[in-house]
Amino acid sequence: MALQERVFSGVQPTGNLHLGNYLGAIKRFVELQGRYDCIYCVVDLHAITVWQEPAELPQAIREVTAAFLACGIDPTKHIVFNQSQVAEHAELAWIFNCIARLGWLNRMTQFKEKAGKDRENASVGLYAYPTLMAADILVYRATHVPVGEDQKQHLELSRDIAQKFNNDFARSIREHGYGEAFFPLPEPLISGEATRVMSLRDGTKKMSKSDASDYSRINLTDDADAIALKFRRAKTDPEPLPSEEAGLKNRPEADNLVGIYAALAGATRAGVLAEFGDAQFSTFKSALIDLAVAKLGPIGAEMKRLTHDPVAIDAVLADGAARARKLAGETMKAVKDVVGFVRA
Ligand code: AMP
Ligand code: TRP
Repeated sequence: MALQERVFSGVQPTGNLHLGNYLGAIKRFVELQGRYDCIYCVVDLHAITVWQEPAELPQAIREVTAAFLACGIDPTKHIVFNQSQVAEHAELAWIFNCIARLGWLNRMTQFKEKAGKDRENASVGLYAYPTLMAADILVYRATHVPVGEDQKQHLELSRDIAQKFNNDFARSIREHGYGEAFFPLPEPLISGEATRVMSLRDGTKKMSKSDASDYSRINLTDDADAIALKFRRAKTDPEPLPSEEAGLKNRPEADNLVGIYAALAGATRAGVLAEFGDAQFSTFKSALIDLAVAKLGPIGAEMKRLTHDPVAIDAVLADGAARARKLAGETMKAVKDVVGFVRA
């Protein structure tokens, strides 16, 4: 069975989408649409691995959907939906829970960070998070997964699960006529100048939805004044910008701002430094603010417009879910045959 190339990725509906989500993930999702069949998912089942307020979750799901659309994802040519509407994700995740080994999950750094010191009190779902992520990807037999740098380890685990499933069930896969490799080994797509956007307050910390300070991040819905204020206040060092990339070493804040500029401009760090080398931060920040406002302003405005019509957004999600369910259902039938379940 020839495996078709397909892109899958997901974003959690857990608060404000920020510049890291945009440059590390959503902007890349948009670019891949011309080359692949793409499936983009609002991963609400992942979101509830930590507490989500039921009265706020629907709005958060619609906001991520609006961001996808506002950034330029086309839900008619590709598939946009929320995870909980396609039960096959959770179903395959259970089977993967029986494939993945405790030793593999014990190595996951994101669990250690998110669980923190009070590990006994973390949900079982937070621990099993990566097996659900593998199911998201593999239930569509997706081959390429655009993500930020922080998801690299989870992608490696997805490959390990796919590989072990293919090995453990090799005979059954053959006997059922499903060819040699049942699941593809999904490849992470992590590239560009902003695979890890850092906090504006501390260049050694990742920009994150959960940072207590709103000054640490640029939200996709921030207006021009907020964007300007946050970049003006962004931490820097006293030196002017270097004219070569090597000069960014050990200057995490400078490196981050130059990387953000490069990613927004579709340029490289070297190119940006060729233009701004030796400039003071105040000059560079003014250019960065103009660029960010020009690129993000229209996205934020479109997100606001779209979220005013929740009925239209829910219709996009329902349509995407129906199409996703068809693909996922086919995989699950085959998985059941391979595992040895009796089915209708
Ligand atoms: P999440 O908000 O955790 O669901 O992340 C959604 C996507 O954004 C994933 O592909 C992440 O890798 C990516 N992402 C999140 N934070 C950052 C960041 N600070 N820099 C680059 N990519 C990020
Ligand atoms: N774990 C990802 C994150 O927090 C979100 C995610 C869930 C995902 N399932 C996925 C990303 C499948 C890529 C593919 O960023």
